[in-house]
Amino acid sequence: MNLLWGFDDDVADKWDGSAKKVNYKRHQLLRVIPRTDMQVDDILAMREEIEELMFWTQPAKNHSADILVRPDLVPDVKEFLQLRGLEFVVLFKDVQKAINAQNPGMSRDERIELRNSKGHEMTFKRYHRYSDMLRYLDYLSLKYPELVEMLTIGKSSLGQPLKVIKISTGQLTKNGEVKPAVWIDGGMHAREWISPAVVMYTLKQLVENFRVNRRVVEGADWYILPVSNPDGYEYSHTIDRFWRKTRSNHESQDLESSRTLTSFLWGETCRGVDMNRNWDFHWGEVGASDDPCQETYAGPRPFSEPETKAISDFIMDRKDRIKLYLTMHAYSQMWLIPWGYTNKKAGDYDDLMSMGKKAVDALNRVSGTLYQLGPAPSLLYPTSGGADDWAKGAAGIKYAYTVELRDDGTYGFLLPASQIVPTGKETFAAIKAIAKAIVCKN
Ligand code: ARG
Ligand code: ZN
Repeated sequence: MNLLWGFDDDVADKWDGSAKKVNYKRHQLLRVIPRTDMQVDDILAMREEIEELMFWTQPAKNHSADILVRPDLVPDVKEFLQLRGLEFVVLFKDVQKAINAQNPGMSRDERIELRNSKGHEMTFKRYHRYSDMLRYLDYLSLKYPELVEMLTIGKSSLGQPLKVIKISTGQLTKNGEVKPAVWIDGGMHAREWISPAVVMYTLKQLVENFRVNRRVVEGADWYILPVSNPDGYEYSHTIDRFWRKTRSNHESQDLESSRTLTSFLWGETCRGVDMNRNWDFHWGEVGASDDPCQETYAGPRPFSEPETKAISDFIMDRKDRIKLYLTMHAYSQMWLIPWGYTNKKAGDYDDLMSMGKKAVDALNRVSGTLYQLGPAPSLLYPTSGGADDWAKGAAGIKYAYTVELRDDGTYGFLLPASQIVPTGKETFAAIKAIAKAIVCKN
């Protein structure tokens, strides 16, 4: 990313007018599947040796490691892999071409026509900017005031609002009991564009398709945060397609480290925190970095980010009512259960698995998409400070899951916009099934 990677000459749009868009021309995406522990170690050694490599997925035995390689490093990397007998495939020969193909634009006329006819511009045919999403949220709350309420739960580091949509037909059941609540968030990792898109799609189903989904909508109060990291999300649209972290700046706390960084570098790679390592539960223990320049930087302290702080405060205030916590990520098609920070099984592992199974089965029935189900450490590797672990361990929400959406790596983060609706449909089926099972018991 950035500085080391090569920039376009044209200045990116006005959202960050001083910076230039990162160009991934002739960068290659390589897929390697280590089959032995030694091969995992070989890949880890290569990562140490060639710092500029960007791992889209982490090396783990019998799992594909997808590695983005700068053009000038391609020969070296391929040679390294060949020498160690590691087989690889080239997923993209020119990553920039795939970036350009992912998201079709919309003409000005189409935009104006949509706004006039529908009152918003959400099409689900493309990955929308944050402003389009906010306009759609406004539209929903104006059009369905009985059902929808907009809450601003805080602000990002750069001052963008964090908007939660509350969908509720009333806090009490017919019998006068307080209803359970469901929480869903998306976009914690900026580059995982399918996540906010699917959360927006879910919102649309619950609100605009209320009649069909009446039972689950009435069964709970729904709290939905489509973009929990709007700074990162916008940055991934305007400057660097593969940005993951927030855009905060913790320079002052961390400059003491021996690294000699120019302030320019600080303005680039070393900004931001991995939101999914920043939660105050076993923070910083495993699978997280204390180096601000790394993609999995856990932050200077738990909840250093205004985004994680705002979300956790909001959830804590309602922790006894929230019975299901879902956080949407991409990619690898996995329905992950806690714990993420340890190989130990949760005490109610069987409950988490059987509920999870309802979700992945319902998802699979829509168009055959296969998901793996289980804890992150056994399917991948342990990481700590994750939102799911915090929701379960600190807020006490029994059913907390991280969902890794499509795909299995054919496109990875560059999942074509034409897959938004199919992904939305199957994921909504899963959400509906698990929510029904948890909140509509009686
Ligand atoms: N890909 C996700 C991440 O790296 C997985 C998180 C799973 N949850 C966990 N607590 N480890 O953030
Ligand atoms: Zn993610």
